[in-house]
Parts: sequence; C-alpha cells; structure tokens
Amino acid sequence: MKLLVTGGAGFIGSNFVRYMVNKYPEYQIVNLDLLTYAGNLENLKDIENASNYKFVRGDISDREFINGLFQEENFNYVLNFAAESHVDRSITDPGIFVQTNIQGTLALLDAAKTFGVTKYLQVSTDEVYGTLGETGYFTEETPLAANSPYSASKAGADLLVRAYHETFGLPVNITRCSNNYGPFHFPEKLIPLMIINALHDKELPIYGDGLNIRDWLHVEDHCQAIDLVLHKGRNGEVYNVGGNNERTNIEIVKTILKHLNKPESLMKFVTDRPGHDRRYAIDATKLRTELGWSPKYNFDTGIEQTINWYLNNREWWENIISGEYQDYVKSQYGDR
Ligand code: NAD
Ligand code: DAU
Repeated sequence: MKLLVTGGAGFIGSNFVRYMVNKYPEYQIVNLDLLTYAGNLENLKDIENASNYKFVRGDISDREFINGLFQEENFNYVLNFAAESHVDRSITDPGIFVQTNIQGTLALLDAAKTFGVTKYLQVSTDEVYGTLGETGYFTEETPLAANSPYSASKAGADLLVRAYHETFGLPVNITRCSNNYGPFHFPEKLIPLMIINALHDKELPIYGDGLNIRDWLHVEDHCQAIDLVLHKGRNGEVYNVGGNNERTNIEIVKTILKHLNKPESLMKFVTDRPGHDRRYAIDATKLRTELGWSPKYNFDTGIEQTINWYLNNREWWENIISGEYQDYVKSQYGDR
C-alpha cells in the first residue's frame, strides 16, 4: 500500500504521518509538502529516516508536478491535509486560500481520477458549516454556510470532492473535524500563541468578548479517526469528528495562565475578528456508531500535556518565531 499524505509537514499532517509510519510499517508513506511558513520538517525529525517514509517538496496546485508524481508513485490512498489553514490570514489575503485549498484540491482530484486510487480522503473542517447559536450541533446534514474566506475555500473544495464522487465515481471520503490541539501546533493559533506570549509575559490578545466557543479535540484522536475513515469509511460519505469539549476562548486562556502560574492581567481584549463564528459544536454520532471511534484524551489532561510539551520543546517554537526555520528552508530549497 502506498499513501500520499499532502501537508504532512504541518501540525495535523505531521502528527498523522508519525502515527501511520509507526502503526503501519508495511505501508509506504510519501509526504508531499510545499514547506510554506506553516510547514516544518523538524516536526518529523524522529521518523525522517524510517524505511517506510519519504518526503517530497512540491505544490499541490502545480498540475504538471502532481501528475508526474502520481505517474511515478502509483498511490493507493491519497489524504489531502495540505491547505492554507489560518482564518486571520484568509481575511488579509484570500487569493492564496483559493489557489491552494480549491485549485490544489482540484489538481489532486484530477490526478486521482486519471491514475486511479482506492480512496481519496479530504481532511476538512467544521468551519464549513458556519456558526451555531447557543444550542444545537453540526451534523453531516447541516447545510454548508462558510463565513470566512478560509472556510469558503474549504467548503468549495468539499463540494468538488463530492462532485468527483457523484459525477466520476471517485471513491472519496470527507472528514470534518473541530479545533485540534496538541504538539507541533503552529504558534499563530490560539493555544500555542497564548502559551508562548504568557511565557514571555506579553499581552494575550482576546478577540471581542472572548466568549466564542470552540470544540477542542486532541490531534491524536483526530489522526485515529482519519485512519478509521480511510480504511472503513463508506465511499462518498462525510464523517464529522469531535469529542464534545466545548470551551470559551477565555476559559482556554485562563487554563493556560493558571498552569503557567501567570496573572490574568496579561489578558487583553482586542478588536474582534471580522465575521467571527460564535460557536462550533460537533455531533460525531455517525463516526462513533458506524466506525466505532471514540476519543482517548480527556481535555483537562490533554491540555496540561500540551502546555508541558511547549515548555519542554522551546527550541522548536523559538526557531519558528525567530524566523530561523524559514531562513533554513530558503537556504535549502529557495523561495516557494
Ligand atoms: P497547517 O497550516 O499547520 O499545515 C498545513 C500544511 O500544508 C503545511 O505543512 C504547509 O506547508 C502545507 N501546504 C500549504 N500549501 C501547500 C501547497 N500548495 N502544496 C503542498 N503543501 C502545502 O494546518 P493544520 O492545522 O495542520 O491543518 C491541516 C488540515 O486540517 C487543513 O486542511 C485544515 O483545513 C484541516 N483542519 C484543521 C483543523 C485545526 O484545528 N487545525 C481542524 C479541522 C481541519
Ligand atoms: O474548527 C476548525 C478550525 O480551527 C480549522 O479549520 C482551522 O484551520 C484552525 O485554524 C481553527 O480555526 P479557529 O479560527 O477556530 O482557530 P484559531 O486558533 O485561529 O482561533 C481560535 C479562537 O480563538 C477563535 O474564536 C479566535 C480566537 N482567537 C484567536 C487568536 C489567534 C483570539 O481570541 N485571539 C487570537 O490571537
């Protein structure tokens, strides 16, 4: 079995590559990543020499390159994690989100259709459903109602994946997961940003009133769900992934401050994110009942372990925030 994992040098992708390399020594895993600002091969240092693992640098939206790679490698499974993933960046520069998330997905779907695959799995997000009020949950039947350029580009990609199944019979699955946390989370996102700022006694910027709710899931539980859907998901189906851990942003920030023994006076309320979704909450009944998935991590211990991971891996994030890692990528590979 040969797997193409795109975006395998990012937060979730690198956790997934490690999980698969260790769990399936008989599989060949090819990690294709462009190494944008968010991709970091340091995330995979411990498995970089594994005999069932290979890294290839490239752009999922470069059709010539993608077709050449598919022709050469004969993939059985394709898992598309590669994306521009940060909502705030999509507000200032939406174009690259359309290029990577939509054009890139289209190039992968066309290659999967041309060369044939056993399964194409699109790693999507609960953000495609838009926002919830105080009650209710996103199910797989909730209409798509994306509110940010990021989520609109992910929703567009999801519809292309669906269309390639309906029109061309491509064997596909889509997973839609809630917010992940855990090791190797890039420092621009809420949890790592707040940990790192607090360690530097810098202000913690909280958007709006801080009462927006996210439904947090440990990245390893997400990886396990993707593994199950890849092997057992029914073709053409969407599976929501989430562990029922709703927290307001203020609760998250206070937990971090408490664990680091830092004062709440570091919290600073700042201008809200435009179009800021109020609440996400996932109903993962389909994944639990049909495929037998259940998350292993309890949020309170998972977040404590994650904070400790950032305390024990200072060099990893210091290299990112100092720009040293990007300088290294440029010296090795040139500009993107
Ligand atoms: P990330 O930003 O940490 O990683 C994205 C990776 O994709 C990086 O390694 C980057 O270099 C690579 N990449 C970007 N453009 C590329 C291109 N054109 N060609 C090849 N590689 C490219 O993102 P993440 O948080 O790990 O998210 C991974 C996937 O999971 C995304 O598709 C995202 O939409 C989805 N998702 C994320 C979350 C979350 O909470 N982080 C939740 C649900 C779904
Ligand atoms: O729900 C899944 C999504 O979760 C993924 O699809 C996205 O790729 C991922 O980035 C994440 O999106 P969010 O916008 O929910 O994550 P972010 O970490 O950017 O923000 C989490 C919440 O914290 C959100 O309500 C905005 C708020 N926030 C964020 C930052 C960076 C702040 O209050 N201050 C901040 O500085």
